[in-house]
Amino acid sequence: MGPPKGALTGREVFLRCDRPVMKRESATRFSVSLPPSLLKQLDQMTREKSYDNRSLAIADMIRAHLVEHRQSFGEDEIAGTITLVYDHHKMHVQETLTDIQHDHHDLIVSALHVHLDHHNCLEVLVVRGKAARIKKIADELIAAKGVKHGKLTVTTTGKDLPT
Ligand code: NI
Repeated sequence: MGPPKGALTGREVFLRCDRPVMKRESATRFSVSLPPSLLKQLDQMTREKSYDNRSLAIADMIRAHLVEHRQSFGEDEIAGTITLVYDHHKMHVQETLTDIQHDHHDLIVSALHVHLDHHNCLEVLVVRGKAARIKKIADELIAAKGVKHGKLTVTTTGKDLPT
């Protein structure tokens, strides 16, 4: 079941947040050959994920792959988050993480620190910059002694990615 009539879907919210508003392109039709069983599963996923039609589902899949593909090209600008969990009682972990962040302050847009319990801290850094540098700082932070778990999640800055 889709959203009620008049309600905002995620797509509309995204378009509203995306400034300056990109001129909407007209759609180009192209044909693709698929085994019928694959097409059946695609249509099932399209329904399960509440897309209005398979073109919208396929367009999102293409965009997701483009974002992933661009991560491997160091000069492209990406945005993302680095999530870290660590025990702040462990020797020097906090200083090490702070030092690394200060060394790359131009990449870090925002930081959120949550004291999970007496020992554990959760830090979420919002990062933006060239893919290779983001990957490097994420690797350094995640590998720092005392970090229990870390993860880089990469997304797009939204530029050059048509809706
Ligand atoms: Ni804390």
